[in-house]
Amino acid sequence: MSRVHDALRKAERSGTPSAGGAATSVATPASPDPTTLHGLLEQIGEVDWDPAEEGHLIDAEKPNQAPTEEFRSLRTRVNHLQGLQPLHTLVVTSPSPAEGKTFTAANLAVVQSHLQHNLTLLADFDFRRPTLHNLFKIDRSPGVTEYLQGKASLPEIIKRVKGTNLYLMPAGGAVLNPLELLNLKEVRVLLERLPTVFNWVILDTPPLLFAADANLLATMTDGTLLVVRLSQTTIDTVTRAIQGMSHNNVIGVVANGASRSELYSKYSYYQSYYYGKDDEGEGEGLQAETEDAVVEEKQDQR
Ligand SMILES: Nc1ncnc2c1ncn2[C@@H]1O[C@H](COP(=O)(O)OP(=O)(O)OP(=O)(O)O)[C@@H](O)[C@H]1O
Ligand SMILES: [Mg+2]
Repeated sequence: MSRVHDALRKAERSGTPSAGGAATSVATPASPDPTTLHGLLEQIGEVDWDPAEEGHLIDAEKPNQAPTEEFRSLRTRVNHLQGLQPLHTLVVTSPSPAEGKTFTAANLAVVQSHLQHNLTLLADFDFRRPTLHNLFKIDRSPGVTEYLQGKASLPEIIKRVKGTNLYLMPAGGAVLNPLELLNLKEVRVLLERLPTVFNWVILDTPPLLFAADANLLATMTDGTLLVVRLSQTTIDTVTRAIQGMSHNNVIGVVANGASRSELYSKYSYYQSYYYGKDDEGEGEGLQAETEDAVVEEKQDQR
């Protein structure tokens, strides 16, 4: 199945203009070919890179700032796994609320998009508490919920961050029945087809122990990344969350909230080497907040 996806994606790419070739050109079909999504990229609108400060998103222009290095390390690990198994769609979830799912999903998507030709779609599938649109200061609607209700087309709900490989899909307007919407066969079809265009489709989702949404989405995606806030989540809670999954495709656990001193105390030479004095002063507020943003351990449970 995934080989087919890979082949389709390659075919799709060879038919699209290279990065930077803006979507200016002539008449395009009214909607992408529904089976391959061929033509999708040419119809997508663009937004500026204008992240909200409180989102703590990694800035490509400040590559030495924490937690860039940790997210690059996470990127290396998931990309390595992608080389070993079909892995293009990824649910990011956590046992409980406020553990850093959105923070992790967004920053992983951002660092993925820094790699050449690595088209990355960050999709907000948290219909209960969507925040992606706030982080990137884009409209919440039209988004996924409008698409699933047949009120918007795919090109209308995806935005490309100008000049980058990063694409955003906001959640859309609030719905009374998120789970019913996620049970539509269109969701599965969408998640099977998006990888024909994007190498990574990263889904921000609600917490596992509070809603069944992420559990359901995990059954339709290639892998799940579990974000755990170290200071607030117990091993029991993590175990319960994983045991509750109908389809355990957890590819790793992101330990959020480890202090940098814990991580680097044994490697202080490297810390000062890589985070030299010149970088220390920059964005102190951000660094103070995010220096505990550490992506540490991942276990392949397959
Ligand atoms: N390691 C970190 N360093 C600094 N701030 C962080 C870190 N992790 C999360 N945050 C901040 O904590 C808040 C909660 O994080 P986030 O929104 O990512 O959690 P969430 O799991 O998505 O929450 P929800 O369950 O409500 O969707 C946000 O303001 C985020 O920027
Ligand atoms: Mg969130």
